[in-house]
Amino acid sequence: MNSEFICLEHLNRFYDEAGSKHMVLQDVSVKIAKGESVALLGRSGSGKSTLLNLISGIDMPDAGSVKVDGLDLTALNEHKRTLFRREHIGFIYQFFNLVPSLTAQENIEFTLELNGVEQNEILTRVTALMEELEITDKAERYPAQLSGGEQQRVAIARALIHQPKIVLADEPTGNLDARTGQSILQIMHRLLKEHNSTLLLVTHSLEVANSADRTITLEDGYLQERDSGFAW
Ligand SMILES: Nc1ncnc2c1ncn2[C@@H]1O[C@H](COP(=O)(O)OP(=O)(O)OP(=O)(O)O)[C@@H](O)[C@H]1O
Ligand SMILES: [Mg+2]
Repeated sequence: MNSEFICLEHLNRFYDEAGSKHMVLQDVSVKIAKGESVALLGRSGSGKSTLLNLISGIDMPDAGSVKVDGLDLTALNEHKRTLFRREHIGFIYQFFNLVPSLTAQENIEFTLELNGVEQNEILTRVTALMEELEITDKAERYPAQLSGGEQQRVAIARALIHQPKIVLADEPTGNLDARTGQSILQIMHRLLKEHNSTLLLVTHSLEVANSADRTITLEDGYLQERDSGFAW
């Protein structure tokens, strides 16, 4: 097992605020093994989404490095980071981020089309995954015609459809009722295990965090390896 599959070293990220620096992440280092699932806890504003954006290469750190399977993302230009993200990352955004002008099914197909997957294969895979997430009857609807929970399931399907090495999930069940949330979470974990994908899961719920192999916590810009035992 590759125990240094994701390797964050001495990451700093700050924002300028009225001429002074607002440090969001300070000297954050963590290693995540291939196939591992890690829950990320922390108060609102503690930098959880910021950290996910650094791992996906959407954002760049002010200092430190982000390595995935030995590849240093901070050394890549934006185009290469985009290609890396398209192929290897599945991102479930905190606020869905579905494309409003595409139907549910088209939103899910999109990544496979960008990655040049053949049309028959796309249809087979998308049909199976929509079935699994129980959104088949919503395939032709646009995001605005879906409930929050339905949009979230479409977003989950979109993130998993290309069987990415890494899934970054920002509160993936935050908009679902507890029972639906648990069942979606189980499906997610099973699909990820099937492909030995690595999961970093942001959550405010200790119950959700318990579904992961390990928990890390962001506090005042610093990363603690242990769960502080407090749900935010
Ligand atoms: N583009 C930006 N410009 C300035 N400040 C930012 C920017 N993005 C995030 N921040 C600040 O960085 C801090 C961390 O934000 P982040 O979105 O990572 O928090 P979070 O832990 O995901 O919170 P939540 O649980 O509410 O989603 C916040 O104080 C936020 O205001
Ligand atoms: Mg956030």
